[in-house]
Amino acid sequence: MKKFKQLGSFIFALAMVVALAVPVYAAVEDTGYSDVDAGASYAEAVIYCREHELMNGVGNGRFDPEGTLTRAELATVLWRLEDKPVVNYLMQFSDVDSDTWYTEAVRWAASEKVMGGYGGGMFGRKDPVTRQDMVTALWRYADRPDTEAGEDFKDEADIASYASAAVDWAVANGIAGPVSDGVFAPRTNATRAQIAIALMNYDRTKQTTPTAPTEPDPTPSEGGRVLIAYFSVTNNTEGIANHLKEILGTDLYEIVPETPYTSADLNYNTDCRANREQNDASARPAISGGVDNMVQHDVIFLGYPIWWGQAPKIISTFLENYDLSGKTIVPFCTSGSSPIGSSAINLHSLAPAATWLDGQRFSGSASRSTVESWVNSLVQVLKPAA
Ligand SMILES: Cc1cc2nc3c(=O)[nH]c(=O)nc-3n(C[C@H](O)[C@H](O)[C@H](O)COP(=O)(O)O)c2cc1C
Repeated sequence: MKKFKQLGSFIFALAMVVALAVPVYAAVEDTGYSDVDAGASYAEAVIYCREHELMNGVGNGRFDPEGTLTRAELATVLWRLEDKPVVNYLMQFSDVDSDTWYTEAVRWAASEKVMGGYGGGMFGRKDPVTRQDMVTALWRYADRPDTEAGEDFKDEADIASYASAAVDWAVANGIAGPVSDGVFAPRTNATRAQIAIALMNYDRTKQTTPTAPTEPDPTPSEGGRVLIAYFSVTNNTEGIANHLKEILGTDLYEIVPETPYTSADLNYNTDCRANREQNDASARPAISGGVDNMVQHDVIFLGYPIWWGQAPKIISTFLENYDLSGKTIVPFCTSGSSPIGSSAINLHSLAPAATWLDGQRFSGSASRSTVESWVNSLVQVLKPAA
């Protein structure tokens, strides 16, 4: 998220002066929309949002200034403000499909905690944005700056506790104001014109505010929050991992043995290496390389082939190599015919502070849509966004 860090009172006052010095309603000649008069108080904001590719019209040459914006649309607007980042984050909302125009925006908004869900796995994508939710999303986008509480509105009691600081911030910074004398109308739906004004005011304030030097982020941001880690010798599990990569848009990490398995090592009708390892509780085949940004991953899809009903011992090596406390592990496997059985449950003790979801077995030839159905079913059980 663009940093809009808490500022000292001097910088804050300076920002206020600069922001308020910007004429909000500059004269315009032609707005380009049949329903936005050049003299309208919001005409400049509407044009600003179009020119900065934040908000467009609704078609037929109209902007619909008195219309509302859905939550999916607001997520998209803020995502555009952030230059449309692609994030690796497991979609958690059952009402947001994986391939819509707003999917990436909602994924980003949830991952950055700019907009959360309602609980129960719902984002409320079609719901109109209220005025308090409009300023809350902007305030969160601005990294939740501290602001001294302003004067109470007449309808102060209607402002939800989660939105209180955001309203104070928006008013103090000239981003949004009352709808009439002393009335903020927090639960009224924001109009598209009001949102355009708030966006323009916020964006201008941000551009004219001296930014404090940002400290380096202690956690690397490459790689995303979902990791797909898998071990595969004959490429069946790798095929499932590749489907997951396409569905989730995340990178893959292949668990590569330091000593590769030969065909003879896998010949389970003999006293082969694989059989010996599976029969040795202490076997921990070494792994070549490792995950260098494990700290940033919240969810790990962990894939393996079934060997004699269990996960290969190299999966034990993998789990013991990292501190997986607090992470959610989602096991999946391929096999000739065996179910996942006890193979995943028997791994729990190797990462006891992780949250383990039920595992899923696939045939080596499972299609992408089979894998996608399983991923979609997980939104119900993964933690909802804060
Ligand atoms: C040593 C060994 C043991 C196996 N044990 C089982 C088993 O118990 N049940 C089963 O259905 N398949 C078993 N298989 C078959 C594999 O689970 C299956 O081929 C799997 O999809 C291979 O995955 P991969 O191509 O990702 O390595 C075994 C394979 C090997 C090499």
